[in-house]
This record gives sequence, C-alpha cells and structure tokens, in this order.
Amino acid sequence: MVPGIVSYLLLVRYLKWLSVNAKSFNVGSYRRADTPQPTADFFDTGNAEGERLRRAAAEAAVHDMLHWFEHEGGHVGILDATNSTRSRRAWIEERCKSKGYDVMFVESKCDDEELIMNNILEVKTTSPDYIGQDPEVAARDFRDRIRNYEKVYETIDEPHLTYVKLINVSSQVIINQVSNYLQTRIIYFAMNLHITPRSIWLSRHGESEFNVLGKLGGDANLSPRGMAYAEALPGLVKGSVGNKDITLWTSTMKRTIQTVKHLNYPKKQWKALDELDAGVCDGLTYEEIEKKYPEDFRARDDDKYNYRYQAGESYRDVVIRLEPIIMEMERGSDIMVVTHQAILRCIYAYFMNVPQDQSPWMEIPLHTVIKLTPRAYGTQEERFKANIPAVSTFRAKYTSANMGGETAIVDAERVKSPIARAQANGVTTINGDVEAAPQKVEAISVAESLGLNDDTVVVE
Ligand code: SIN
Repeated sequence: MVPGIVSYLLLVRYLKWLSVNAKSFNVGSYRRADTPQPTADFFDTGNAEGERLRRAAAEAAVHDMLHWFEHEGGHVGILDATNSTRSRRAWIEERCKSKGYDVMFVESKCDDEELIMNNILEVKTTSPDYIGQDPEVAARDFRDRIRNYEKVYETIDEPHLTYVKLINVSSQVIINQVSNYLQTRIIYFAMNLHITPRSIWLSRHGESEFNVLGKLGGDANLSPRGMAYAEALPGLVKGSVGNKDITLWTSTMKRTIQTVKHLNYPKKQWKALDELDAGVCDGLTYEEIEKKYPEDFRARDDDKYNYRYQAGESYRDVVIRLEPIIMEMERGSDIMVVTHQAILRCIYAYFMNVPQDQSPWMEIPLHTVIKLTPRAYGTQEERFKANIPAVSTFRAKYTSANMGGETAIVDAERVKSPIARAQANGVTTINGDVEAAPQKVEAISVAESLGLNDDTVVVE
C-alpha cells in the first residue's frame, strides 16, 4: 500500500463510491495471524518455513476472495500481495479462471531510490509488522525484505495476461490485453493517483436569497449575509491555505460565482458542479413539496440516495456526473471547490468513505470551509467556520422543515467533524447495490516488483 503509487484502499473506496462492490484481500494480514512481526529473513525464498506460511496465507486469501465473489455478490476483489513470480501469477489465474472470473494484474514498479525510501518511511514503518519498533530499524528491515523479494522477482510480461504496469508512479504505463470498461476505469484511476502532498478545500456558496426563503434549487443571488461570507472568504482561506497557489472551482450558478468574487486565484467553472436538479420541485420549499407531491416526498426520504426528482436527478445521478471531477481532483494539486450542498455531500462522501445511505443526510453547513488532506490510509479533515450567521438548510428524515434557525455563530475555529471522528473509530462502509456496475466479476491481483505495494492494510 503506497500513497499515490497504487493505493488499493483508495481503489476500493473509489469503486464503492461508484456502487461497485469491491473488497481488498490482503495476504499480509492473513500471514500476520501466525507470524505477526517477522523479520526480513522470513521473506527469503530459502526459508522453507517462511515459504510454507506465506503460501498458506495466499491460499486462504484467494479462498476467501472466491467465496466472497460467489456468495456475497462481490464484483471487484483485490488480492493485495506480492505476486511477483510467473508461477504465482499462473496459480492465481488458474484459480480465478476455473470459477469463471476475469483477472487483471497491476504491477507497480519503482526503481527510484528516493521514492522507495519515502514510501518505506511514511507507510511501512507504521505497518502492523513494525508497530512498537524503532522506525529506522523498521525501515532497514523493510529494505532487506525488498531485497529478498527482488531475488525472485519476475516482471510481468506474460503476453496472454491482462495487466497494467505502472513504472515510477505512472511516469510510464504499460497496458496489456485490457478488455472491458471496468478495467479501463481502474487503470485510469491508478494512473491518476500521485504522491505529491496536497489539500482540497470545500465550501458551499454563501447564503442565498432562496436559502433564506427555504426554497430549493433556482439560480438566486447571495443574500446580504451570503455577500458578507464572500467578503470574509479571502481571510478565512488565507488562514488555512497560506501562500500556496490554489485553483478555484465553482459551479456555473450565480451563488457560487458571487461567493468567490473576492478570492484572487485562477478560477474555473464546471457545469458538473451545479446543484442536484430538483426537477418539478425546483423553486419549492419542503413544505410545498410535501403538499404538492406527498408520494415523492415520502419516497425520497425512504431512499434519498436513489430517489430521482421527477424531471430531475438523484444522488446516484450526481455521483455519475461527478466522476470526472473526482478524477481531476485525484490528478491535481491544491484545489478549492465552492459548490452546493448535494454536490459537496457526494464529494465529501468520496474522500471520507461515507456509506451511500448516510451521505445524502450529512450536514454540510453554510459559511464553513472544510479542508481535506488525502493521506495513505484515508483523509484528514479540518473545518473553519466564518463568524457570519446563516440559515440551516439541513432537513432531518421525514420532516418537512429545515432544522431552522441560524447556524451557531462560532468564531473562526477549527473543529473536527463527527464523521472524521467516526472514521477514526472505523466507520463501516456499505456495499452499495449496483445500477451502473458491469455484470462481469473481476479479480485483480497485484504484482509488485519491489515489494512497494504489499501488505499493511486490512480493509473492512
Ligand atoms: C505476499 O505478499 O505474498 C505476502 C506479504 C506478507 O506476508 O506480508
């Protein structure tokens, strides 16, 4: 598991966000059941007992993955292991193909010594294999482990296999026998991951005239308090961004464009960032919707993620149109996105791994900047509130009124969100049902050239 080289945890998160039932099977975590903290010589192929235990761990992981495909509706299983010999790959291919599953191998090859050392120091020394050990001793041991992997390493070049080889963090990419859409999405995602540290700042537009009236949608101007937020934003952003060069993205709607008016960064408008289209309900209040379209009102609360407004959109639709935005965010550097409540819920859910049934109900308050910093195993979050009141547009399930009142006025402060805290405590993620997911079931196996991608993460 490598930040930005190929992070299988991030791949699982991405696929689940797209409603593809994905799960990672990490051979290292199976091996740890018997051998929790081996030293590098355990991974020497001359160590017969080590070889036996490693083989047993791989067999258990493949067994569980195939069981998951067969009995739990799995769509993409990720076998996260050092599948760096031809014979290992042939064995995986045989096991998966015998059950009718496609296999794609992903090899991340790295011969840049600085990248390798950074990866070891940032990721491997915090692995369960090295917990409680001196980071320098751990780093040296992991370097020795890589040398043992190298002794038997055979780069993937079998002409009949489907594979992608990423060399030095996608500086070069070799693709072989790729045959379906999902494989191309996965390759594109892996190519866009990078290791440059960066943050993403998110904000809703300032309070709008429609917000004040409790109306949905529209293309209203900012209210006077919304304009005050726009004026306060440069100070708020400066406090968090400092002197970095950021790019500013907005929707094409007046309220987001007016919100960034005083921010002096390069700006880009995206139609894909426009608010969820409320269709026939655009311009109505929740009370009006409940009276005019009672069945729709109820149906939406029953399943807010999937409910599609008549002549409008669902959250599921929004996720599909946001996919290119997410890809650009993964590819890019520091970005601030000023957009709308439903859009931010979807973007936030992607970075924070929020389950689909919860994401449409998250509170994303007005007049607050959320800073997200992607890390190897997840995303760190900070919130900065402006000292400018605004209405709350949050509506609880099966109620027709917004939570009402103004958001609490908090002096510009940093608060950890409840979701971030829950995440730290292990929020569970769901396996969403599949509307857009391809029917074909796939297994991805990971071949690693220099041991850069093996182990360390137990997913789900
Ligand atoms: C493997 O990748 O084959 C095993 C990795 C481990 O035991 O940590």
